[in-house]
Amino acid sequence: ARVVYHLPDGTEQAVDVPAGQSVMDGSVRNNLPGIVAECGGSCSCATCHVFVEDPGAGQFDPPSDEEAELVEFLEGARPSSRLSCQLIISDQDEVHVEVADSSL
Ligand code: FES
Repeated sequence: ARVVYHLPDGTEQAVDVPAGQSVMDGSVRNNLPGIVAECGGSCSCATCHVFVEDPGAGQFDPPSDEEAELVEFLEGARPSSRLSCQLIISDQDEVHVEVADSSL
C-alpha cells in the first residue's frame, strides 16, 4: 500500500509499504522523522503515535486493550490516535496518517 505520512513539519512523504508490515516499519525503514519506535514495535513505548482519520481508520484492525490503554495516557491524544506499530498493512490501496509531534 501507499502510505502517506503527514509529518509534524507540515510536509508529507509517501512510501510503499508491503502487506504484513506496519505503518511504523514503513517510516523507520525510510528514516522519516517523527516516529521514534523505541521499543521496536512491541506495543510498549508509545513513541510511534499517529492519527488515522476516517475513512482510513476502518481499514485497520481495532486497537487491542494494550494499545488502547497506552494511547489513553498519551499527551495530545485524539479519538483517531493509534500506535503505528500496530497498524499492519493488508490490502489497502492508500492510507494517510498524521504523525504526532513527539515533542508534545
Ligand atoms: Fe513502541 Fe509502537 S514502536 S509502541
